[in-house]
Amino acid sequence: MPHQFPTLSDFPPLKNDLLLRAARGEKTERAPVWIMRQAGRYLPEFREVRKSHEFFEVCRTPDLATEVTLQPIRRFSGLLDASIIFSDILVVPQAMGMEVLMTPGPDFPDPLRTPADVDKLNKTVDVEKELGYVFSAITQTRMALDGQVPLIGFCGAPWTLFAYMVEGGGTKTFQKVKTWIFKYPEESKALLLRIADVCVDFLVGQVKAGAQLLQVFDSWAGELSPHDFDLFSRPSLVHISTNVRKRLAAENLPSTPITLFAKGANYALASLAESAGYDTLGLDWQIDPAEARRLVKGKVALQGNMDPNVLYGGRDAIESAVKRMCEGFAVDGSTKAWIANLGHGITPEVNPEDAKWFFECVQKYSRR
Ligand code: CP3
Repeated sequence: MPHQFPTLSDFPPLKNDLLLRAARGEKTERAPVWIMRQAGRYLPEFREVRKSHEFFEVCRTPDLATEVTLQPIRRFSGLLDASIIFSDILVVPQAMGMEVLMTPGPDFPDPLRTPADVDKLNKTVDVEKELGYVFSAITQTRMALDGQVPLIGFCGAPWTLFAYMVEGGGTKTFQKVKTWIFKYPEESKALLLRIADVCVDFLVGQVKAGAQLLQVFDSWAGELSPHDFDLFSRPSLVHISTNVRKRLAAENLPSTPITLFAKGANYALASLAESAGYDTLGLDWQIDPAEARRLVKGKVALQGNMDPNVLYGGRDAIESAVKRMCEGFAVDGSTKAWIANLGHGITPEVNPEDAKWFFECVQKYSRR
């Protein structure tokens, strides 16, 4: 279904811009906080929706996607500073012509086995036609949010998407995708850029639909050596940041902060801050906040990075981890250029009350 893009000035005014100010590198009275996978299986109200609707059905039905996006905002009213549209990174491979199931993890019945399989992908991708349902969900959610908090749009990084398209699902060894990059490096690079072009159209469309910040998830960046990251992930990440900014300016769209979460790629933190073109870098928990600050030299904002499993440690463990994290990210004693988050998505067994305590602790200890 083609999407009707809204007039952005018609949206209700934003009442809480902490996230956007922190992403622009500003000081904030306290750190904005949200968590990856904040609408997800740890919430009973989400599991209730999932009882009667399949995962991708929720993604494709704007009423349902809006409802689950709003669930954490409603439950943690006044404690969350951002919403993230309910969708998945794997909608891009779907738009490129691949079948993707969730059973319950990602499952591609017909993955790309050799470069000859690339011919099976759609020659051109009409993102508005294939992913218009995401744009509709964003527009509807932005209206329903009524300016309470900003809405984040997102996509997967080409390297991570390419890995899923070749592996056909989750993997521990990455054998198939590593075979591709080492045996067919040129074909791999060509496909990575093709995915990147779809990501550019998709992210620009999300801003046109109402997204106020964009995040690129490179969940598998850590599987590459620093050398191979430079060959097989960085170019497409730079392609995305450069071209999204160009297109937003050319189409008179709001200049929108962009976050890169390259999980496991702390080896590349300094150089990503220097020249990848992102406003904020998301961190996993494998790096000390103060060390990350030193590496990025004030060039970007940071997001993260408590180990999500601390949420299983009880209130005292959460409180002391949050306090340490707030001190670690502080710049000259101030809260600045920092978006509090976990170092990866929240996991299904977490008690929502413990997530709530995490938000409360961030609010308390980052106020300076
Ligand atoms: O963060 C949010 O709340 C927004 C929604 C969102 C989902 N997936 C919903 C989801 C976002 C931003 C994603 C991103 C995503 N999807 C990533 C990048 C972030 C990361 O976690 O590394 C990746 C790698 C995927 C692919 C994916 N989708 C996997 C590996 C799985 C199965 C594993 C799991 O956690 O269940 C999914 C399914 C998925 N995506 C769920 C949700 C809430 C759970 C599925 C369900 O409802 O049954």
